[in-house]
Amino acid sequence: MSQQILQALGLAETNSGTYLGNGEWSKTTDAGVLAPVNPATDQVIARVYASSAADYETIVRRAQEAFKVWRATPAPKRGEAVRQCGEALRRHKDALGSLVALEMGKIKPEGDGEVQEMIDIADFAVGQSRMLYGYSMHSERPGHRMYEQWHPLGLVGIISAFNFPVAVWAWNSFIAAICGDISIWKPSPKVPLSAIAAMKICNEALRAGGFPDIFFLFNDAGTELAAKFVDDHRIPLISFTGSTAVGRQVGVRVAQRMGRSLLELGGNNAIILDESADLKLAIPAIVFGAIGTAGQRCTTTRRLIVHEAIAAAVVEKLAAAYKQVEARIGDPTDPKTLMGPLTDKGAVQRYLAAIEKAKAAGGTIVTGGKALTDRPGNFVLPTIVTGLKNSAEVVQTETFAPILYVLPFKTLDEAIEMQNAVPQGLSSAIFTQSVKASERFLSAAGSDCGIANVNIGTSGAEIGGAFGGEKDTGGGRESGSDAWKAYMRRQTNTINWSDALPLAQGIKFDL
Ligand code: UN1
Repeated sequence: MSQQILQALGLAETNSGTYLGNGEWSKTTDAGVLAPVNPATDQVIARVYASSAADYETIVRRAQEAFKVWRATPAPKRGEAVRQCGEALRRHKDALGSLVALEMGKIKPEGDGEVQEMIDIADFAVGQSRMLYGYSMHSERPGHRMYEQWHPLGLVGIISAFNFPVAVWAWNSFIAAICGDISIWKPSPKVPLSAIAAMKICNEALRAGGFPDIFFLFNDAGTELAAKFVDDHRIPLISFTGSTAVGRQVGVRVAQRMGRSLLELGGNNAIILDESADLKLAIPAIVFGAIGTAGQRCTTTRRLIVHEAIAAAVVEKLAAAYKQVEARIGDPTDPKTLMGPLTDKGAVQRYLAAIEKAKAAGGTIVTGGKALTDRPGNFVLPTIVTGLKNSAEVVQTETFAPILYVLPFKTLDEAIEMQNAVPQGLSSAIFTQSVKASERFLSAAGSDCGIANVNIGTSGAEIGGAFGGEKDTGGGRESGSDAWKAYMRRQTNTINWSDALPLAQGIKFDL
């Protein structure tokens, strides 16, 4: 099964993890080996040779050369290159979705969904390539024209996380591509095969279409190359997805060299359920939000803030739904499975430690709370915890696992205050039939998150909107809306077509 998936994508038992451009994959074999493990079976899937410092230098040099060509390529033509990548991804959706499921451990429909996100952002980028608009301003001086234009930025560094092995790269690299930038990708060492497969699909499509190399890839056996990457002044933008702890360091280091960073860090996302909430919508939204991707999305629902009058009934319904999911935990590539494994043993340990902390703080485990030790892989039970305060340390912390804390409230003000009283600010939602409650939640005095939804859950954002969040989530925005501006530099131009030289602000400077 796993051999079939690898073969369908042109992957072997050992693979180069370095795309050098010119259709060339590095021959380096002495810079370390990555051995990604199937988190459902503990078996190594295949091996990947990591990149050397010399590989990295070759990539940056070739990317700089490629930039000179690409920045002068008309943006709609750049869009055509991305369109062809999207077409190639459509052809490989099933195989790449299966590889993501195999290597990351998310269920097959979510693996396919991730490839669909790549296709969607490709389509979005094609349209955007004709809409890199700048404003035209009215000059205060007669006979003057003032406008702004958006120029390509240069090399864009992308550091992605294990939980979205391919989609986050596409959000960044496809938008960067239409903006005229060249992107260099360092994926998570847990999921290099998905990255190599995505690169093969897109780079082959680019070569077939006669386009230059615009996507490069390296894999780091340790953190040395990643550190060099973050500090590299030749890379004006680093887009980082990962933990708040690492993202904080990345942000500081990039700022030190006056680079730009785009940070997509942790979330601690809540759903508020008021007394009027339609539970037919709310229950499945909470279950998918809390259990989807085994709780390993940055948009996972981690807190349920529920009106005290309905709290007991809601918890009962959720517990029943959780029991149904429990019966369908298993191999992520099996179509019957609803929940796959956690990524590794460390993640299982962190899940168990959070359960212990929750109990020690006075919490009650309503359902779940255990790792499944009767089988290989990193399986745990989805868990609901009641009886904790929002201020409890474990509730304030993002544990990348399917643990949902239920927090009752009396008034909407109190609910919104609780929702905001965490360090992170990514995604949030309210289920209500009340226009007033909904508008209050979406107002300036409502949710403080980058994403705020009504009558849908916290996860599963569409690519058309800007994705990202505030506070410890890092403040970056990717994907849709005008997130493309982060990948370009703005230039303000003033042209004097008169015969005089009036100064701004009416200043007289007579010689
Ligand atoms: C992430 O968890 O890193 O909204 C990104 C979602 C997905 C993206 C999540 N579209 O859940």
